[in-house]
Amino acid sequence: MLGPVLLAAARSDSIRRIVSAAPVTRPMVDRFVAGERLDDSMTAVRDLNARGLEVTLDHLGEDITERTEALRNRDAYLDLAAALAGAGLGVRAEMSVKLSAFGQALAGGHDLALANVIPVVEAAAEAGTTVTLDMEDHTTADSTLAILAELRKRFPQTGAVVQSYLFRTEDDCRALAVEGSRVRLVKGAYKEPADVAFQDKREVDKSYVRCLKILMAGDGYPMVGSHDPRMVAIAQELARRYGRKADEFEFQMLYGIRAAEQARLVAEGHRMRVYIPYGTDWYGYFMRRLAERPANLAFFLRALATRG
Ligand code: FDA
Repeated sequence: MLGPVLLAAARSDSIRRIVSAAPVTRPMVDRFVAGERLDDSMTAVRDLNARGLEVTLDHLGEDITERTEALRNRDAYLDLAAALAGAGLGVRAEMSVKLSAFGQALAGGHDLALANVIPVVEAAAEAGTTVTLDMEDHTTADSTLAILAELRKRFPQTGAVVQSYLFRTEDDCRALAVEGSRVRLVKGAYKEPADVAFQDKREVDKSYVRCLKILMAGDGYPMVGSHDPRMVAIAQELARRYGRKADEFEFQMLYGIRAAEQARLVAEGHRMRVYIPYGTDWYGYFMRRLAERPANLAFFLRALATRG
């Protein structure tokens, strides 16, 4: 149960300083993050697209404290949209956005995040692609889903994310499984209290399957965000059961995780989208990747102790 401890420790400034400065950190970050610059991310996009994989790009930036940072993050996404428009990849390259990067947690954050995300969603549409709103900790879920509903009035292709560890998510799936609605189902990566979320991994997995059934049986477009071989196999089975063709749902995995499985699913004729994070603010993302896999954490701590 080191994961939750690590997620809590990740909020400490002193731990952030130690981890960020340790020489052993960089090579591990490079496994999960495509690079610090927009150009680095576009190199990863070209490489993955050439191998038949689609992508969604995340400009890293979260937990900001100033409105100016929210504007900087918005502008980084506008630059990204311009690069995608130039590359002419259409929906083969979409964008994932964390509303906290756009100011959701600041005073008046709901309206601020909405105001900042609108130009990004407009720019995505002009570039022939779309945006998916990542889901962060449970305190943001109502605001994020309300912003999603607002955006979908003009841009119905805007994607949602739901997390199977939350008790509420089966209901959210029912509400979202409607015509044209793109929904990414994930297990959830934040430290959540027992009054809102399953704490036992088996319960999270069972909830994932229940939610997947709702999405696959519904009228929306399910995006199966998981590296778990059982969830992948169950998604394939449910797609067969509900008569979904290969272009009527997709798999999604994170950059640097189970690349061989990503290629295998493409070879089987599935749509497979890789989530590519890039940018300098990689700390929170990196700590969540360590927390969700004990082997990553053990490797990192060993390296830190011997070489850090
Ligand atoms: P699980 O954690 O059970 O892992 C199954 C197997 O996958 C492991 O045994 C291992 O082989 C491999 N694996 C998983 N994580 C690994 C890692 N870090 N390193 C190496 N191998 C690993 N969460 C969230 O709260 N909000 C969000 O918006 C998103 N967005 C998102 C997009 C996409 C495309 C994906 C794939 C995931 C997310 N997530 C997320 C993260 C998600 O909630 C979850 O934490 C991870 O996907 C890990 O859960 P799995 O379903 O992969 O299963």
